[in-house]
Amino acid sequence: MFNNNTIQRFNDTETPFYYYDMGVLRNTLDACRDASSKYGFHVHYAMKANFNPKVVDMIQSFGFGADCVSGNEVKSAMEHGFDKGKVVFAGVGKSDKEINLALDADIFCFNVESVQELEIINDLAKAKNKVAGIAIRINPNVDAHTHHYITTGLDENKFGINTWQLNDVAETLRKCANLKFLGIHFHIGSQITDMEVYRSLCIRINEMQDWFENHGFAIKILNTGGGLGVDYYNPDTNTIPDFESYFKVFSKFLNVKPGQEVHFELGRALVAQSASLISRVLYVKNGQKKNFLILDAGMTELMRPMLYQAYHTIENLSREREAKSEGADAPDTPHTAPQIKYDVVGPICESTDCFRKDVDLPQSYRGDLIAIRTAGAYGEVMASNYNLRDHVQSVYSETAD
Ligand code: LLP
Repeated sequence: MFNNNTIQRFNDTETPFYYYDMGVLRNTLDACRDASSKYGFHVHYAMKANFNPKVVDMIQSFGFGADCVSGNEVKSAMEHGFDKGKVVFAGVGKSDKEINLALDADIFCFNVESVQELEIINDLAKAKNKVAGIAIRINPNVDAHTHHYITTGLDENKFGINTWQLNDVAETLRKCANLKFLGIHFHIGSQITDMEVYRSLCIRINEMQDWFENHGFAIKILNTGGGLGVDYYNPDTNTIPDFESYFKVFSKFLNVKPGQEVHFELGRALVAQSASLISRVLYVKNGQKKNFLILDAGMTELMRPMLYQAYHTIENLSREREAKSEGADAPDTPHTAPQIKYDVVGPICESTDCFRKDVDLPQSYRGDLIAIRTAGAYGEVMASNYNLRDHVQSVYSETAD
């Protein structure tokens, strides 16, 4: 990801910025397409993970669909040229304005999260003399074994329709003439690396499928959601997520009937490893108890560590590169410079503005370039201008096309 030319380029660029390695993105998309097409599975990109225009353009060029969670995401998906037959609209609180926008765009499917929402979509579709494609998002009560802030499929979560409400769903579907029932939708959480969890999900999906069919509803679409995790600890050696194992679980345990389509909504796994947040050391504060590296990027550029205690690999590109080139030509030779523990913090006026405590790094100096890795998912999209900061910029690798 970082050769000498890249680092030279960083030296000449104003920080902080997101650096997108379009080669990594392309390889990741290739791997996902290969692994999913083996089983005829359909992948929709969860646009919420990153709506940087160049990233979205590349994803669209691979033929993936778009999973949107707001009217603006639906609009953006259409503007980026996604096939409307591959655009789905999820979200627990779709406004009337957003539903109307999606109806006007003739998207493929609404993933519906409550009985009341079914009635509203039906009314709005009727007013336009249209029929809306519908999948019912079911809360399967499957524990994703991930951080509780990014778990979505448990009874106590706000998402989806609980199984005890399914009779109401069936009754409502029967009387809503402007809805076309397409299938069932699930999403149990994010950053899931334990494939057992997906096996449990398959079993629940099979049960739910039986329930609908026993109540007279044919299922065309089984939408399993997203959530495949990435390796935040080894971005250089484990760059491509394990798409093979992921899709294999579904091919093995999901009861797919002839004519049915299996849909996935991957966000993080497609984009996380393709970007790093590049920042500079503004000040080094050596205290009696702590040493601080104060960066020119903070929670306004990358919120994940502060919000979910998320781990991101942190590197000092200026010093590690020096140590590496002293040692050997091989770019991955581990550096041997003495390590110092730093709390790596941002400039924002909040104590929580800390990327990580006690990070082992080579002795660092003002002006050093720091890379915070695996920042392509839920990074730039969650940036803010708190403290009236400038919006973070983006830089792209030259292998972009
Ligand atoms: N489908 C639905 C209905 C979702 O809610 C999500 C993510 C996805 C698909 C895509 O999940 P993925 O494949 O990216 O795991 N900001 C948090 C993650 C929030 C995920 C929200 N929903 C983070 O930075 O970890």
